[in-house]
Amino acid sequence: MTANNRIVLSSDHSAIQLRQAIAAHIATLGWEAVDIGPATAESTPYPQHGEAAARLVVSGDCRFGIILCGTGQGIMMAANKVRGVRCGVCADTFSARMIRQHNDANMLSIGARVVGEGLALDIVGAFLTAQFEGGRHAPRVEMITALEA
Ligand code: RB5
Repeated sequence: MTANNRIVLSSDHSAIQLRQAIAAHIATLGWEAVDIGPATAESTPYPQHGEAAARLVVSGDCRFGIILCGTGQGIMMAANKVRGVRCGVCADTFSARMIRQHNDANMLSIGARVVGEGLALDIVGAFLTAQFEGGRHAPRVEMITALEA
């Protein structure tokens, strides 16, 4: 656990229930959930929610971001446009672990219409317990960052 134990959560309308379940789950793991909504299932465009979460991660307010839409894809694409974000969509625990260990991901995206709640919670757990390995992976991550220049 790092000093900053806040995790921002956001989604579009398709993932309200799963987002709330993840927020409750990460609290049991010792993290503070910063759930920025939306609160209702009214249709709302995913890019703005991906960006809002991303801004809280790159500002340092939150250590990680977990974002959701129907597929996890659109909101991930939006978040990755914010400088400093490394976000991957995961539908399996292996990928969730690897995006931390090898890619030093600071955001995780999940498709609420793709994975069920049980698997989603396992994916979140895998992401949060894995550590960046550094070493040969560090210059590769730096190369990703250099693409933002
Ligand atoms: C909304 O219907 C849907 O397009 C959105 O949740 C997401 O899947 C986009 O990538």
